[in-house]
Amino acid sequence: MAIAIMTSGGDCAGMNPAIKQFVDYCFSKDIKPYLIYDGLEGLIDGDIKLATYEDVAGIMHEGGTKIRSSRSKRFFEYKFREQAFNYLQQYNIDKIIILGGDGSFRALNQFHKDFGVNFVGIPATIDNDIFGTDYCLGVDTALNVIRQATDAVRDTSASFKRACVIETMGRDCGYLALVSAITCGAEICIIPELDYNLDAIGKRLKKELAEGRKYIVCIVAEGCSSDKCTSTNELVSWLEHDIGIETRATILGHVQRGGNPTVFDRLMASEFVTYAIERLMDNKNEDGGSVIIYKKSEFEFVSIDYVNSQKYEIRKDLLELAKRIVN
Ligand code: F6P
Repeated sequence: MAIAIMTSGGDCAGMNPAIKQFVDYCFSKDIKPYLIYDGLEGLIDGDIKLATYEDVAGIMHEGGTKIRSSRSKRFFEYKFREQAFNYLQQYNIDKIIILGGDGSFRALNQFHKDFGVNFVGIPATIDNDIFGTDYCLGVDTALNVIRQATDAVRDTSASFKRACVIETMGRDCGYLALVSAITCGAEICIIPELDYNLDAIGKRLKKELAEGRKYIVCIVAEGCSSDKCTSTNELVSWLEHDIGIETRATILGHVQRGGNPTVFDRLMASEFVTYAIERLMDNKNEDGGSVIIYKKSEFEFVSIDYVNSQKYEIRKDLLELAKRIVN
């Protein structure tokens, strides 16, 4: 049996531990492990290699993905998917494990419909925005990167009696900002999913400043750059002019996508991959494509249609925890 692994879309910490576990576990089960480089683009161009131990030696602690990633427009075209399939046939590969987001899963679902290639999707994105799963690989590491950066920015903000506005990634989803605001003790959290009242926040902050508060930490999701809510720049200007506190902005950007995977992400990577291989080995993937999800501390397989059926929503109890800092 041969199984290939690939990483697609935005990379995240945990992909390398997943690739390592994939190769090691395949060898232990007498399965040929193939690596597809450069995501869907590499699949189209036949950038495929039978893995050796050396390919994955010493990568457990590294962020990013050794087999690289891409976002592919070409894969939307049948002729390129057909080209990809022809390459896979040369290696007798008819099973793929793909780490990525729902766009990547949809791409392989179409590929399955075209040519019958079986696949399992592993949710891997720092955005944590895939419907059906409580956890996507890479989120814990990204949260720890944000935590470390916020702790550092708080130090200098306190020294200068300033406010800081820290913008996190997450595309349209405010999960990273929300959890960071709760766990870093922010005074303000602005995310698209949570109603907030700037007037009430302003009153609260002015009172606290009058009573001796020395600095203010605000965490804003990048999804707020749209019309939906107050953007980082607008918040900086509001803090300076309405609240009267000198303010600096830090847009964390791609630093959140890198860094050494945390223990949790290494463990989740191992579990996701092991179950995915077993699923493909046991031929349980009857309908050709599934996604492994992590729900209420258990792993489960669901259909692509299920994952695509609804928009991800942040848990209500988490949103509740931040109510205090949105008024
Ligand atoms: O989906 C992961 C993510 O990092 C988002 O949080 C962010 O909006 C986007 O990708 C950035 O994409 P790129 O790496 O193409 O700039």
